[in-house]
Amino acid sequence: MADKTTFIEQLTQRYSPKGEHLILGKAMLDKEVVTEVNVSLPLKTINRHGLIAGATGTGKTKTVQVFAEQLSHAGVPSLVLDIKGDFSGIAKEGVRNGIIDERYGKTQLDWTAQSFPVELLSISGEQGVKLRATVTEFGPLLLSKILDLNDTQSSIMSIVFKYCDDKGLPLIDLEDLKKVLRYVTESAEGKEELAANYGSIASSSLGAILRSIVALEQQGAAQLFGEPSFDVLDLLHQRDGKGVVSILRVADIQSRPMLFSTFMLSLFAEIYMTFPEEGDAGKPKLVLFIDEAHLIFKEASKALLSQIESMVKLIRSKGVGIYFITQIPGDVPEEVLSQLGLKIQHALRGFTAKDRKEINKAVENYPITEFYDAGQLIQNLGIGEAFITALDEKGIPTPLVHTYLISPESRMDVLSASEVSSFVAESALVKKYEEPLNKESAYEMLNKRMEQAVEQAEPTVRKTTRTAKAEEGVFESVMKSRAGRTFTTTIAREGAKFVLGMLGLGGRKR
Ligand SMILES: Nc1ncnc2c1ncn2[C@@H]1O[C@H](COP(=O)(O)OP(=O)(O)OP(=O)(O)O)[C@@H](O)[C@H]1O
Ligand SMILES: [Mg+2]
Repeated sequence: MADKTTFIEQLTQRYSPKGEHLILGKAMLDKEVVTEVNVSLPLKTINRHGLIAGATGTGKTKTVQVFAEQLSHAGVPSLVLDIKGDFSGIAKEGVRNGIIDERYGKTQLDWTAQSFPVELLSISGEQGVKLRATVTEFGPLLLSKILDLNDTQSSIMSIVFKYCDDKGLPLIDLEDLKKVLRYVTESAEGKEELAANYGSIASSSLGAILRSIVALEQQGAAQLFGEPSFDVLDLLHQRDGKGVVSILRVADIQSRPMLFSTFMLSLFAEIYMTFPEEGDAGKPKLVLFIDEAHLIFKEASKALLSQIESMVKLIRSKGVGIYFITQIPGDVPEEVLSQLGLKIQHALRGFTAKDRKEINKAVENYPITEFYDAGQLIQNLGIGEAFITALDEKGIPTPLVHTYLISPESRMDVLSASEVSSFVAESALVKKYEEPLNKESAYEMLNKRMEQAVEQAEPTVRKTTRTAKAEEGVFESVMKSRAGRTFTTTIAREGAKFVLGMLGLGGRKR
């Protein structure tokens, strides 16, 4: 039996930050709750990122809920990538029941039913704040990646973006992009302009690019491009002093890991470029919770992985904390794991040899503890209990503590459909992004130019017909082609529609 007095003394010292902090629960020793020891974390180290891991049903999502509530109390907003759609209950007051009474009886903490300010975000036709982005904001590189273009096609895309930039042609949506592509390959003026300044484009490459774009459109991606584009600063609101919890419900991502990682990267990049440098702020500006985080890393290429790793490193200085939620710590690459300041480890199950290996690895990474047999206890943690190690105010790792987590003060169940509707109806942010703008962009401008060219060429009717026909040529053939349909199926599998929508968050401001 470990000495309880020493335990209380040592743990209290390391888990009582002097500055602003949040509380996750009470310490446990020999399976008993030790009410003397609060497990409190300093807000100033929350931007040092973290991991919330554990077998299914052990309490990871509820821990995120508690965490997000505590941050909200402290005025810190968060963004939750809600893959399972089980997080919306935070918008409503919790209901006192036997579970809550028992938990708060043991911890001797107060529990007050409360709701938290929430924004529901949407990337599809679903209700919520529409996340859109302009083609220009995506930039040629990201867009080429999503369209799965080869090197030649990607460089054409870059040239086309440069051309539009030089000519003052705004690329807002996919119509604009298609129009420009057609203009520079099929109209005499466009061809000339391009050849004179940038070199000519092979029509086979153009066909391939167009096919990719059309395939995306057929997935319903068109609505994801446009204005007003989503401003990541809108993730930073407070209401009545509480930080707003933004919930992006992104079901159906399981089969699209590559696109998910692309999205995450673009979100990190957008935040990195938009948020000011924070220095060593007293508390985080924004906290991101990424559920099912293994999906980001699963099929990411080496290049993409190293980009994610460096972004995770960089974004910290912007006052943004990222929390990866996943079943086993081994889902997260070593380079990322080593950067995580907070680890909340719920129970792991040692069914297979591989499981046991994972358990050993997790335990090896903990600070040495005289109070627990970590390897044994990690498999026997109760639901809503976890091993925690964090960073104290000086950035020094805190001792491992078996924690009895508090329960959410908000509802543990999800919102009903009608509740979602009424939240959306009342949201000012939803209104802000609701109506797509239709400013004059490349499409209208080039249409005008082409009409003028035709008028000037009158009465050379033959030319008019030829232009129109040629223009129809590549485009029509793309629409009708078998290859186009095959490509569509490929894209469908990859779930391009989904990520494109999500990418509405990301992208590059000029
Ligand atoms: N802190 C807590 N207070 C009260 N009940 C809890 C707490 N944590 C977990 N529970 C109970 O355990 C259930 C499962 O928790 P949760 O959904 O958080 O698990 P999970 O680890 O996210 O599971 P999955 O891997 O399936 O997503 C909850 O519905 C709740 O009943
Ligand atoms: Mg969960």
